[in-house]
Amino acid sequence: MARSKITVIGAGNVGATTAQRIAEAGLADVVLVDIVEGLPQGKGLDLAEAAPVVGHDAHILGTNDYADTAGSDIIVVTSGIARKPGMSRDDLMNTNAGIVKAVVAAATAVSPNAILILVTNPLDVMCHVALQASGFPRERVLGMAGVLDSARFRTFIARELNVSVEDTHAFVLGGHGDTMVPLPRYSTVAGIPITELMSPERVAALVDRTANGGAEIVGLLKTGSAFYAPAASVFEMVESIVLDRRRVLPCAVLLQGEYGQDNLFVGVPVVLGSNGLEKIIQITLTADEQAAFDKSAGAVREQVALLA
Ligand code: NAI
Ligand code: 2OP
Repeated sequence: MARSKITVIGAGNVGATTAQRIAEAGLADVVLVDIVEGLPQGKGLDLAEAAPVVGHDAHILGTNDYADTAGSDIIVVTSGIARKPGMSRDDLMNTNAGIVKAVVAAATAVSPNAILILVTNPLDVMCHVALQASGFPRERVLGMAGVLDSARFRTFIARELNVSVEDTHAFVLGGHGDTMVPLPRYSTVAGIPITELMSPERVAALVDRTANGGAEIVGLLKTGSAFYAPAASVFEMVESIVLDRRRVLPCAVLLQGEYGQDNLFVGVPVVLGSNGLEKIIQITLTADEQAAFDKSAGAVREQVALLA
C-alpha cells in the first residue's frame, strides 16, 4: 500500500515542525510548500537527511510549486504572517485571509479529494475562508486549536496535581482565543472530575492560564508564537485521519445547528477518521457553559463579518 501524501503549506515554525513529526513517525510522505524560494527546499532537504539517522523512509520534498502537491490526502495550512507593529487584528485577519484563500485555491485545485486542516490565525475565521476557497464539504475542512488548548489545560492540571499528563484529560470548547471555554466538570484525572481534586479558585486560575496560553508563550519568546505543542496537536489530528483511528478530539468544524449555532466554525468535540469529520459529539451544557459558548461563538461570528 502506498504511503499517504500530506502537504504542509508554510515552512515556518509550525509547518516545518509538523513536517518533521509526520515524517519521523513514518506516517506519510510530506510536501513542504512556502512562498519564500529556498526555504522549503532547504528545510525539506535537511529533514530528508535526518531520515537515515532517525530511521524512516518517508519522502520529504520542499517546493514553491503546487504541482508537486498533486494528489495529497491531507493539506495542512500554516501559511500566514504574524502581527507587525502598527497592524490591527483586523488588518492581520484580512492579510492572512488573502494568503489562506490563495494557497487553499492552488492546493485544492490539484488535490480535490484532500482533507484540509487549518492552523493559520485567526483560526476559526480562516476555516470559513478555506471552506469557501475550496468548495469542500464541511467533513473535509477542519481547524486545529482545541487539541492545543486542551493540551495546555492538561499540562497545567497535571502539574498542579503532580500526576501523569497521560491520565489527565481536558475538555475545551469554543473559538481559539481568549473566549475559549474550558469545561472543568468534563476535565478529569483517571475519570475523576478536577472539580473534586482542587479548589474552585485553583480551577479558575488554570482555566484562565489556558485561555491565555498562546499569549504566555509569545510573551516569553518575544519574536514568535508557540510551535512545538501546535505541531504535536496537528500531528494528532493527521494521525487519527491517516490511520482512521476515530479519535475524539476538539476541532473547529462548521456547525449546522449543533450546539445552537448555524453556519459557524467553532471548536467542539468530534470523531476524526478517514473521511475527516465523522461525527460531531453533542453534550448538554449547563446554562453558564452555554452562555460562555455562545459568547465565544459570538466573538467568532463578529470576526467573520469583518472579512473584507
Ligand atoms: P511562521 O512565520 O514561522 O511561518 C509562516 C510561514 O508562512 C512563513 O515561512 C511564510 O513564508 C509562509 N507564508 C506566508 N505567506 C505565504 C504564502 N502566500 N504561501 C506560502 N507560504 C506563505 O509562523 P508560525 O509560527 O509557523 O505560525 C503560522 C500560523 O499558525 C500563524 O498564523 C500562527 O498564528 C498560527 N498558529 C495557530 C495555532 C492554532 O492553535 N491554530 C497555533 C500556533 C500558530
Ligand atoms: C497559540 O495559541 C498562537 O494561536 C497560537 O499559541
